[in-house]
Amino acid sequence: MRVVFLSPRYPPEMRHFTRGLAEVGVEVLGVGDGSPDPELRRYLSAYLEVPSLFDESDLIARVHAWLRGRSIDRVLANWEPLVMVAARLREQFGLPGMSVDAVRGFRDKQLMKDRVAAAGLRVPRAHRVHSIKDVWSAIEQIGYPAIIKPISGAGSADTYRVDSAKDVERVVPQMRHVEEAICEEFIVGEEYTYDTVAIDGVPVLENVTKYLPNALEMRSNEWISPVMLSVRDLDQPHIQKGIELGRGVMRALGMGDGMTHMEWFRTPAGEVVFGEIACRPGGACVVDLMNYTSDIDLFREWARVATHRTFEATTARKYNVGIIFKRAQGQGRIRHIAGLTEFYNRYRAHIVEDTLLRPGAPRRDWKATLLSDGYLVVRHPDWDAACQMTSDAVTGIHLYAS
Ligand SMILES: Nc1ncnc2c1ncn2[C@@H]1O[C@H](COP(=O)(O)OP(=O)(O)O)[C@@H](O)[C@H]1O
Ligand SMILES: [Mg+2]
Repeated sequence: MRVVFLSPRYPPEMRHFTRGLAEVGVEVLGVGDGSPDPELRRYLSAYLEVPSLFDESDLIARVHAWLRGRSIDRVLANWEPLVMVAARLREQFGLPGMSVDAVRGFRDKQLMKDRVAAAGLRVPRAHRVHSIKDVWSAIEQIGYPAIIKPISGAGSADTYRVDSAKDVERVVPQMRHVEEAICEEFIVGEEYTYDTVAIDGVPVLENVTKYLPNALEMRSNEWISPVMLSVRDLDQPHIQKGIELGRGVMRALGMGDGMTHMEWFRTPAGEVVFGEIACRPGGACVVDLMNYTSDIDLFREWARVATHRTFEATTARKYNVGIIFKRAQGQGRIRHIAGLTEFYNRYRAHIVEDTLLRPGAPRRDWKATLLSDGYLVVRHPDWDAACQMTSDAVTGIHLYAS
């Protein structure tokens, strides 16, 4: 089988999906900007370097010219900005996989909500907005607090909570570069993900991760150490409600083969409310958390599902897995880490990954990457023990830069 895989170099986890494809015996034709390093090259049987992955018509023309005379079986992409162009290429080549219309339901946050609501599921009230006038009329119907965000954004970019007319006046000018936006009822509650590997829209593996705090807050406050905790016991009633919602959403949107990443809220009254869903794996190490939960390799299993439509990993859940992202105080280079030795002395056996930047390393831009100044991954079979460890990493470990 011959597969075109878009952007095998970026984001960083794409190299693992590329490896997965090679490991299930697929010939991988990579398309990306920049050139792959020697390790990545080993998994690629050919590579087309393009000037830009975002100039859609140029990309499509180049892929057609490159493939002339060669037959291919799939066009795949696991990065949000490329799922639509992958669908267009599939349609042009007459290949199996999700259609442009189905993918649109996963990209356009208003269409997504309309389709999910039509299936009788609870979504935030929302309106598509193109102008300041639209925003005011949406707010009139929705009330405060509300959310204003791009219709197809990612990573909480250009996403604002507004609590008053004053907030709206402050926020709207900052969104001038956003062509199309959505104004939504703000849902107060805990935020979770629902992640799956699916065959024909039916999950063969499900995972739920809790955000601490909610994604927008972690992305807006530098002093916070964001945490994501993958929940081992999916049978808890409040988690089951989110899973039921997620399954319904996938049916409503016509998911195909591959991975999904959904976000949902649980209100103080116990209601579950849809947030958004993507027809690709979650970023920010979500796939790693799922792998550590069951000691499996979903990079490879995704590849098997996306090409052969079979899934071979175990779904037995062994651990609650927590990731703690750290942000240093101060600017420049990391000078000192406090509390890490103590943390290791206490929890060494439960730490499965440590990418914290060490003294001498330049700080990263926490706005640009949730990876921040590095992270720790810890795991434990017991939920309370996992929570304690993550909380100790949040409050007890501090990076300082100068
Ligand atoms: N209607 C809403 N109510 C409450 N919080 C929201 C709402 N919409 C978005 N958010 C917050 O903003 C974050 C980013 O919004 P989201 O729609 O997930 O966009 P992105 O595609 O950038 O991830 C969410 O994870 C959530 O924390
Ligand atoms: Mg989101």
